[in-house]
Amino acid sequence: MTTPIKINQAADHVGQDVTLTGWVQKRADKGKLQFISLRDGSGTMQCVVFKKNLPEEQFDAARHITLESAVSISGNLRAEPRAPGGYELDAAAFEVIGRAADPYPLAPKRDGGEHGSDFLLNHRHLWLRDPRQAAILRTRATLIGAIRNWLDDQGFVLVDTPIITPAAAEGTTNLFATKYFDEPAYLAQTGQLYSEATIGAFGRVYCFGPTFRAEKSDTRRHAMEFWMVEPEMAFTELDENMEIIEQFVSHCVQTVLRERAAELAALERDTSRLQNVLPPFPRIHYDDAVKLLHANGYPDFPWGEDFGAPHEDAISAQFDKPVFVHHYPRAVKAFYMQPDPERPETVLACDLIAPEGYGEIVGGSQRMHDYQTLLDAIDAHKLPREAYEWYLDLRQYGAQPHSGFGMGLERVLMWLCGLAHIREALPFPRLYRRFYP
Ligand code: 4AD
Ligand code: MG
Repeated sequence: MTTPIKINQAADHVGQDVTLTGWVQKRADKGKLQFISLRDGSGTMQCVVFKKNLPEEQFDAARHITLESAVSISGNLRAEPRAPGGYELDAAAFEVIGRAADPYPLAPKRDGGEHGSDFLLNHRHLWLRDPRQAAILRTRATLIGAIRNWLDDQGFVLVDTPIITPAAAEGTTNLFATKYFDEPAYLAQTGQLYSEATIGAFGRVYCFGPTFRAEKSDTRRHAMEFWMVEPEMAFTELDENMEIIEQFVSHCVQTVLRERAAELAALERDTSRLQNVLPPFPRIHYDDAVKLLHANGYPDFPWGEDFGAPHEDAISAQFDKPVFVHHYPRAVKAFYMQPDPERPETVLACDLIAPEGYGEIVGGSQRMHDYQTLLDAIDAHKLPREAYEWYLDLRQYGAQPHSGFGMGLERVLMWLCGLAHIREALPFPRLYRRFYP
């Protein structure tokens, strides 16, 4: 009798006869001795298949097994300090469950070269099995947990918001249009407007789900479908919003550093600067950010423009923690942001820019809470009033200063894992001109 176990339970079963099921990740043929590195999702284990220890047809099956076949291997589990992972299985039985076609498309290339990114993306359904990709996605799962736990512990209520929506919230240029039967509809760019309604019931809420932007450009930082967590807080102004953001982001970073140290090491991420991500974060006014650009490679940057990726990088290079830029020009920001009463050409917005060139990870603001101000903004942006009637209604029944923010999950994951491109931060990325598989 052998006990079925997962590879990460090996320490509890040394000296026992066990059965592993998994995929053949690597193999080495030494004649009478076959080394099979088996992956089961919890870990990988080296299995030693020695001709004299198995029935002949089972040894032959092992000898001819193809990469990524699903197999079952039983035998005695040994502690083996020289083996990767510290344990080894002496195979006594080998069974093929699902033989993989040969060759495996993502097998290491014979000439030692690397597969191109298009090829890898076309095989994303298999590429996910790569240890590097698995380390990234495991880190993603931990980051999601850290996000939820912190917000839940701080009294934010998770309230889901719709994906099919009748109106734009973050500008009309990047909407994914669809049909709701006969009426025009759009995939949600954000859940924020709905969260502004749910704070009326709960005070502090968050939504967390996929959001959609038809960004017609091929950048390292933009996905068409990405996950955003959006906390929203009643009776909260800009400064408090920034305090919440810095505590929240610090918690997420520190949790991932603690719980995914092995994965980050496997990704060869130098985490020294991430250790430093603790409140408070530096805060600079948009005016000062422009001055900073003038002094650091962009002498002609005009006041009033939005920052592109190179500008964000020039700003963040001056700091070793994430940096807030606040009070952006009204003209470059969303219609719902509260103007600064002292300088109404600016708004009470705060973007958080990650260090090390990872760009904007959080966008937040205080929202307009005055009915007339909001109505004027909707008109000025030529948005259809009917679609925003309910949103305006919120300003009629218990309006108060409120604020919130959106954090892009993939942007933060890129930063934590040190990824050069957002395509690795999603299990099945939707990129410009790509939504296969
Ligand atoms: O700055 P954004 O557009 O803000 C909002 O949508 C607000 N409604 C948030 C709020 O206040 N509740 O987006 C927020 C964040 C960005 O900082 C970025 O991290 C991420 O979402 N993001 C993207 N991530 C990947 N691909 C894209 N195309 C993204 N667009 C925004
Ligand atoms: Mg933004």
